Amino acid sequence: MQKLEVQRTDDGSATLFVPELDEHYHSVKGAYTEALHIYRDCAYLHAAESIGERPLRLLEIGFGTGLNAAVTAMAATTERPVHYITLEKYPVEPELIASLDYEHIVDATLLTAIHAAPWEEPTAITPHFTLEKRCCDLLASPLPDAIDIVYFDAFAPEKQPEMWSAEIFARIYQAMRPAGVLTTYCAKGAIRRLLQATGFSVERLAGPIGGKREILRATKGE
Ligand SMILES: C[S@@+](CC[C@H](N)C(=O)[O-])C[C@H]1O[C@@H](n2cnc3c(N)ncnc32)[C@H](O)[C@@H]1O
Repeated sequence: MQKLEVQRTDDGSATLFVPELDEHYHSVKGAYTEALHIYRDCAYLHAAESIGERPLRLLEIGFGTGLNAAVTAMAATTERPVHYITLEKYPVEPELIASLDYEHIVDATLLTAIHAAPWEEPTAITPHFTLEKRCCDLLASPLPDAIDIVYFDAFAPEKQPEMWSAEIFARIYQAMRPAGVLTTYCAKGAIRRLLQATGFSVERLAGPIGGKREILRATKGE
């Protein structure tokens, strides 16, 4: 993986910057705010409300710093247990993870357990949150099935267009259960149309406070 730098975002939380790509791991307007709003609230909590008590199967594209996983683990309860499968091609070095200081904004014990969990092995982080970290390339790996929720958190389409292709979205759609939801920070018209062409119903939702104006939520029909 390329060299990474720690940078501070507008809500005070840190993110990683990839100089070679000129790209950040999170919104520069607020990494923590983005994780809470786009992924935890608009995808996980939204789906949990309609799906009910059975374990929800969640697929994250890009584990990165583990921030989305940590905020989701903190929200998981008996009423909305989660099996969280996350794909990552370039795991971040533990020293760099430590320098993000996320233990000051999320539960430090959970965060440590999330990073200590072995790759390729489902691990119970809490009684309500099982984590399965897969070190693999989205472009060349089979996807898990029966997915209820997708956190589509790839680098931007201008930086990594191959992650935002019709073929990738079709594979994700196939892997999802009816009524499953996908959210992404990217609200570009071309991506919205691609999701619609795949078969999803797509909503434009308000973005995080202080951040992007809009985000996308795509729902698979019943
Ligand atoms: C925007 S960051 C994800 C941030 C992350 N969700 C978090 O909470 O920190 C995009 C991630 O996708 C990963 N990635 C890039 N290409 C990939 C690929 N082909 N397959 C799987 N992961 C990939 C990157 O290494 C990076 O961690």
